[in-house]
Amino acid sequence: MKKADQYNDPKHNYLKYWQGRGYEHAAEELAIKRLLQNMHFNHAVDIGGGYGRLCLFLKNYATKVTLAEPSKQQLDIAKNYLKAHPDIDQLLTQADAIKLADKSADLITMIRVMHHLPDPSAEFKELARVLTDDGYLILEVANYAHGRNRLRYALKGKKLPLEPVDIRSAANQRDDEIPFVNHNPRTVIKQLAHAGLKVDKVLSVSNLRSPGLKKLVPKSALLTVEKLLQPTLAKTYFGPSVFFLIKKAK
Ligand SMILES: C[S@@+](CC[C@H](N)C(=O)[O-])C[C@H]1O[C@@H](n2cnc3c(N)ncnc32)[C@H](O)[C@@H]1O
Repeated sequence: MKKADQYNDPKHNYLKYWQGRGYEHAAEELAIKRLLQNMHFNHAVDIGGGYGRLCLFLKNYATKVTLAEPSKQQLDIAKNYLKAHPDIDQLLTQADAIKLADKSADLITMIRVMHHLPDPSAEFKELARVLTDDGYLILEVANYAHGRNRLRYALKGKKLPLEPVDIRSAANQRDDEIPFVNHNPRTVIKQLAHAGLKVDKVLSVSNLRSPGLKKLVPKSALLTVEKLLQPTLAKTYFGPSVFFLIKKAK
């Protein structure tokens, strides 16, 4: 079992983390909207969904939504955050042993969880098990190959690593701390293929994430540009976050 301890620490308030991140939140909703278009699903499951930040949005796309999350503290916050939506089920579960039946979800989302999964092979196998044959998975990948890193490596004449990179501070690089990595999307595509999952569409997300820009430019203007950039920059994996729309390989 992998740890989600940071998310159970009363000193760590993930709800507060989202204050001042309206642009990033809206950029993620834009990406989900573009990937799902007018599709509708029977059962959407948000794996590692935290306190349910995206569950309300997912209700636009599914008859039933389940928040699946290993941290008891996040689910306690969700009880309040989602109190007007008792129809959203809450399930205490890890992504490498999802407490759901085979083929029981036709939409699965896993957003901002890959940071904590240096080797996501077991989790991908589980996602494939729970997904229906015609279902969709939206996976957000914390992207090490983003524009700035690409430039940095190019200037040093170095190749970007294919393996995940530990981005914790030196003090936190200990086995008792939750892993925190960024991935190379090319490697993730291979890991997905190994689990029988195939990437159908790609978006580059939060392309304008920069404290300076966020101070200078109104959110609405940032989002107008973000909307244009998400598909345009997808091929180069420019943004710090990559969204994949995934199906089972036939
Ligand atoms: C950065 S938060 C993202 C929460 C939510 N997906 C969102 O975007 O608001 C990471 C979440 O991943 C969960 N998590 C960490 N390790 C996990 C694992 N092995 N399986 C499932 N969830 C995990 C944490 O408990 C936490 O809620």
